Amino acid sequence: MTAVVLITGGAAGIGRAIADAVVAGGARAILWDVDAQRLETARNELGENVRVERVDVSDAAAVQEAMGRIGDDWAPTHLVNNAGIIGRRMPLVDIDPAEVDRVFGINVRSAFIVTQAFLRARADHPEAAIVNLSSIAAGNGGAAGNAVYAASKGALQSLTFAMARELAPAIRVNALAPGIIDTDIQKDVFADRAEMDARAATIPLHRLGEAADVAEAAAWLLFRAAYTTGEVVTVSGGRK
Ligand SMILES: NC(=O)c1ccc[n+]([C@@H]2O[C@H](COP(=O)([O-])OP(=O)(O)OC[C@H]3O[C@@H](n4cnc5c(N)ncnc54)[C@H](O)[C@@H]3O)[C@@H](O)[C@H]2O)c1
Repeated sequence: MTAVVLITGGAAGIGRAIADAVVAGGARAILWDVDAQRLETARNELGENVRVERVDVSDAAAVQEAMGRIGDDWAPTHLVNNAGIIGRRMPLVDIDPAEVDRVFGINVRSAFIVTQAFLRARADHPEAAIVNLSSIAAGNGGAAGNAVYAASKGALQSLTFAMARELAPAIRVNALAPGIIDTDIQKDVFADRAEMDARAATIPLHRLGEAADVAEAAAWLLFRAAYTTGEVVTVSGGRK
């Protein structure tokens, strides 16, 4: 049975690399993102095995409507909760509660909303699986000023453990914890390329990660990790 993988935040970065990997492996992919232009590029580049739609995954009504528009032929069998933002960097004492709501809305609440919609609409698959994009920040607290982001990724990991218990044995659920991956999201962390290169030198494998490095691990968790559920797989070049 051909898998259909719903990937949130699938227009760019890690989500797009996961789309490339699953389509290359013979599956179909549905990409939801707020970036209409990059969605169009993905559709043009990936062809008939991809469907794209502009969906803000923090908007429960929009997610319901988008899921309702997916016909039986494209009912998803696998899910990647990947959409996420870093949020504004600020000292703990200055954090605006509205920013906590915004970051948790996109990084955590969306995973509840999209997973619920997926569970109601999914097509049975003998190897159904969900992958959630956490971060090593969940374990180390993140860079200074990123407390909201780190806490949101910790929540997503706890949700992963809860989902794995509740959805077994029908669906395996795991998380990925990338380190520093060279995507647009890092523009919200590093001032420039020189600062990124300096940080790369401190990573045991002496380079930043590529989105494709994370996509490889995602493909393994989605399709090949048949006896693995409720785990967090770190993809960080040895960075803790
Ligand atoms: N790049 C890294 O170093 C890194 C490290 C650890 C974890 N992660 C996590 O991996 C995931 C992907 O990150 P990335 O590096 O590819 O970032 P990215 O910014 O390159 O891509 C994120 C995508 O999510 C989309 N998106 C943002 N808000 C959305 C919303 N409300 N609804 C739908 N789509 C939305 C964006 O438009 C974008 O296409 C995120 O959850 C991120 O926290 C990234």
